[in-house]
Parts: sequence; C-alpha cells; structure tokens
Amino acid sequence: MNTTTNPKQPPRRMLLAAMGVLLAVLLLGAGGFMWLAGGGTGGNAVGIGGPFTLEDGSGKPVTDRDFRGKYMLVYFGYTFCPDVCPTTLSAVADAMDKLGPDAARIRPLFITVDPRRDTPPVVKKFAAAFGPEITGLTGTPEQIARVAKEYRVYYAEHRTGPGPDDYSMDHSSVLYLMDPKGAFLAPVRADETGDEIAASLRKLMG
Ligand code: NI
Repeated sequence: MNTTTNPKQPPRRMLLAAMGVLLAVLLLGAGGFMWLAGGGTGGNAVGIGGPFTLEDGSGKPVTDRDFRGKYMLVYFGYTFCPDVCPTTLSAVADAMDKLGPDAARIRPLFITVDPRRDTPPVVKKFAAAFGPEITGLTGTPEQIARVAKEYRVYYAEHRTGPGPDDYSMDHSSVLYLMDPKGAFLAPVRADETGDEIAASLRKLMG
C-alpha cells in the first residue's frame, strides 16, 4: 500500500491514458489523416515536424537540415512490420518511379519506431530493398521518441510472447510531406497505390 497517495486525488493518470488511447485511435484511422489534412493547410499550422538528429544506415548523424532544398516524404514504421510498412514503402518506391524526373525533388525517409531491433545496418538494408532513393533512419530511443512526438506519431510496443523479441509495434501510418524548408506541407495517404501517391505528390509540389 502506498500511504503517500491521497485516495481523493482525481485519477489524472487514468484520464491521460484514456486520452492517449483516443488519440492513438484517431491517428491510426482515417480520422487522423483527416485531422492532419484539415489542420495542415497553409503550412505548419498544427506544428507537425521539427528539428531532428538521427542516424543513417552507416550510423552517421543525420539532421533535418541535411534535406533542405528537397521535399521530405517522412514515414514512421519498423522493419519487422508484417504488412503495412512493406506495403507502404513499396508504394512509395513505385510512386518515385512514376514521378520520373520529379522524383529527384523528393527524399523519402523511413524512420523506425523500433530502434532496439532496427540498428543502422538493419534500416539500411530494409529501405534499400524497396528503392535506392529511400533513406532508412534510426537513433537512440530518446531521439526516436523526440522525432515521433514532433510528427504526432503514435507508437507502442505490443507483446506477443515472453521472449525479448516477442513483440510487434503498433504505429500510426501516414506519409508526411515536408516542403524544401522543412515545414509541414500536407499528409499523404499511406494506404494508396504508387500511382495515387505520385498524383498526390505532383499536385502538392505544384
Ligand atoms: Ni508497420
């Protein structure tokens, strides 16, 4: 029994937890996309994105400033993802092909939410399997937590067994298009085909 806890205290932690679950549900579903799409018109209106320092596939530090002058197409996921992440990255790679010369204006970034398993060589190999233009990024758990918070990304470990690797990651699935100055431009649906993603990107980049 913890005698220092006041039993009359409002269950603030529970309320916060409930709000967290609600936000997660919104971000995981189409509602999250609509929320981002509505709030994001006219630039960085909802404060999506921000400075980050991460590690690339060789373990070298990479910051958001390294991508200035290009549109960043940012996706958060993890390499052990059984379905959504591979499907999304393959659609992104397809979209890059469809964009032709315009693809050179975009840098697709895959940022892991599972830094424990997704070491630099792991993210590098995974991203390269979809296309040479996709950059895989990882970092310390603290760096990942910070960038995920900036991008309003929800992620959580989901235990599947007793072993250290017996877990999957629940995570929101949205592509974030950032303009060449690094400001949030618009969300792009991650559940669309390469053709549809290419069409959205073309329209958004003008
Ligand atoms: Ni995934």
